[in-house]
Amino acid sequence: MLFDTHVHLNADQFEDDVDEVIERAKSEGIEWMNCIGFDRKTIKRAVELAEKYEFIYASVGWHPVDAVDMTEEDLQWIEELAGHPKVVALGEMGLDYHWDKSPKDVQKEVFRKQIHLAKKVKLPIIIHNRDADQDIVDLLKEEHAEDVGGIMHCFGGSLEIAKECMKMNFYISFGGPVTFKNAKRPKQVAKEIPMDKLLVETDCPFLAPHPYRGKRNEPSYVKLVAEQIAELKELSLEEIAQQTTANANKLFCIT
Ligand code: NI
Repeated sequence: MLFDTHVHLNADQFEDDVDEVIERAKSEGIEWMNCIGFDRKTIKRAVELAEKYEFIYASVGWHPVDAVDMTEEDLQWIEELAGHPKVVALGEMGLDYHWDKSPKDVQKEVFRKQIHLAKKVKLPIIIHNRDADQDIVDLLKEEHAEDVGGIMHCFGGSLEIAKECMKMNFYISFGGPVTFKNAKRPKQVAKEIPMDKLLVETDCPFLAPHPYRGKRNEPSYVKLVAEQIAELKELSLEEIAQQTTANANKLFCIT
């Protein structure tokens, strides 16, 4: 019984076979999924999927890479969707210094606006961070993001950064990279994260876990992530599944 807290079943890569992919996940014991929207098209599709399947929830937000494209109307639309019964979080949002489509100051502004909105609508936030560890932590502190908390998605930072985030009510979520053979730091960090702060995800169709690295990722593979963490923590898969699912349900207020 697993909760994949970060899927993009709304992505073009699943256009032809999304129902089969969902079916396969269910048969592998993936009971719940959170489908993440990050621009106009994927937000719309995430909400559609959440309306179609009772075990799929949605998050709505604007990706930092495309920060330059977000309008005031988009932000208003996100606010309206925040009241939808299946929308459980805002995001993904954050900072991405790997790509340079959106300048850093624009990314920060769009990130701040979404944090303000999350506090207004009282929903947790899902953070995308690429090569921006310290700026993310500083901005979350400045904006008092601890009021809503949320998820550090596909966490790849140091244990020190993880601790700063946990202090601000963020869960640390691991995905496919923790299973990679050469992923020394993610493995060391995952081992140290307290059970009550841990989540698992796929970020599918991206970042497929070993042995599917480089292939299209899908929610059924979240089991491989959970198995890897169980091994690192010297616990059973059942213990990891039970606790991470309870954590996700608590954060998303799913009863
Ligand atoms: Ni994502």
